[in-house]
Amino acid sequence: MFATLQPTAGDPLLALMTAFKADSRSDKIDLGVGVYKDEEGHTPILASVKTAEAYLLETQDTKTYIGPAGAPALGKAIEQLLFPTIYTTSQQLLADNRVATAQTPGGTGALRVGADFIHRALPKAKIWVSNPTWANHYNIFESAGLEVGDYRYYDAANQSLDFAGMLASLQTVPAGDVVLLHACCHNPTGLDLNAEQWHQVGALLQERGIMPFIDSAYLGFAEGLEEDAKGINILAEYCADMLIACSCSKNFGLYNERIGALTVVAANKRDAQAAFSQISYCIRGNYSMPPNHGAAIVSTIINSSELRQQWQQELAAMRSRILSMRQQFTQKLAECGAQRDFGFIAEQRGMFSFSGLNPAQVTQLQTDDAIYIVGSGRINVAGMTSSNLDRLCQAIVRVLD
Ligand SMILES: Cc1ncc(COP(=O)(O)O)c(C=O)c1O
Repeated sequence: MFATLQPTAGDPLLALMTAFKADSRSDKIDLGVGVYKDEEGHTPILASVKTAEAYLLETQDTKTYIGPAGAPALGKAIEQLLFPTIYTTSQQLLADNRVATAQTPGGTGALRVGADFIHRALPKAKIWVSNPTWANHYNIFESAGLEVGDYRYYDAANQSLDFAGMLASLQTVPAGDVVLLHACCHNPTGLDLNAEQWHQVGALLQERGIMPFIDSAYLGFAEGLEEDAKGINILAEYCADMLIACSCSKNFGLYNERIGALTVVAANKRDAQAAFSQISYCIRGNYSMPPNHGAAIVSTIINSSELRQQWQQELAAMRSRILSMRQQFTQKLAECGAQRDFGFIAEQRGMFSFSGLNPAQVTQLQTDDAIYIVGSGRINVAGMTSSNLDRLCQAIVRVLD
């Protein structure tokens, strides 16, 4: 049956992870995989998560199914994060019951269910992603049967956002199509829109009848929880219908619990309920029902003022460590004699930046120095620590020469 089947090319990031694990050099540095690491190079379980888990172990008395759309408490917790009270327009959306949220296995699950829903509800719609974007977006959307196009986003020559190019591209997207936007901490460039730019994009999407699908995988990693929801809330002022895929992998450190959510915003309560029932139908035909543990942790934290405060402090600590590594990295490269200006890295947000290193330099760093970077030159700043920074910057300056 499978005699003519060829293996897939494989995901280069997963291959990089495997190569890193297999490398026996004790001073190896992983700037590839997209997980947060602390000063010890460890991906910790948050203390707030541990406390919530202890509470759940004590109080949970059943493992029964939780239904395709998951636990309503999780949905409400996610909506609180996406639509904080400082954004008045969004408060009205919630009051008018124009918002509904289904729990999903990770942000990837949310993106896939959202794609299945688009395929079902808007069969003619094509989806447009930024160039570049998280590589898995293509896999997810194409697997759901969607056609994927791209819009301009990155100005490689100046390592900056090509906002004029982005607007020009979006002007050509047909009405009824869907545009994927990163809420914050754009992966892979680390370049986000400012408030004024979100307003311009919102007005354009509204005028052209295009629906935004927002990927929110790093809420709280850029400027702060409420600040990072700014783009979502500005778009909600313009667009009656939106989809938002949310991941709790990074901001709660719950990577392998696979917890995320798909939120739909619709023009009115009826439409929101109709869309929610279609989303639940897509889930039922896919994995039937989501796992519970991660969702129970997130809703326990959000619904306890004490745990929520503790989690927000832990999130703030992760955010400031990343920001500090960005600044230290830029400074250290200059100290090590880099001829190029890497100041742009300190200006970007989230875990990722395009370093400007080419594939040959990336290979050389891996071979000579056990430094693992994605072939595109994308680096995970969270993989840097004060103790590996000297060696890292010296090696980079060496391959730049
Ligand atoms: C932009 C983006 N969206 C979605 C995801 C998916 O996250 P999850 O691990 O929750 O599926 C990631 C993970 O790296 C991501 O970078």
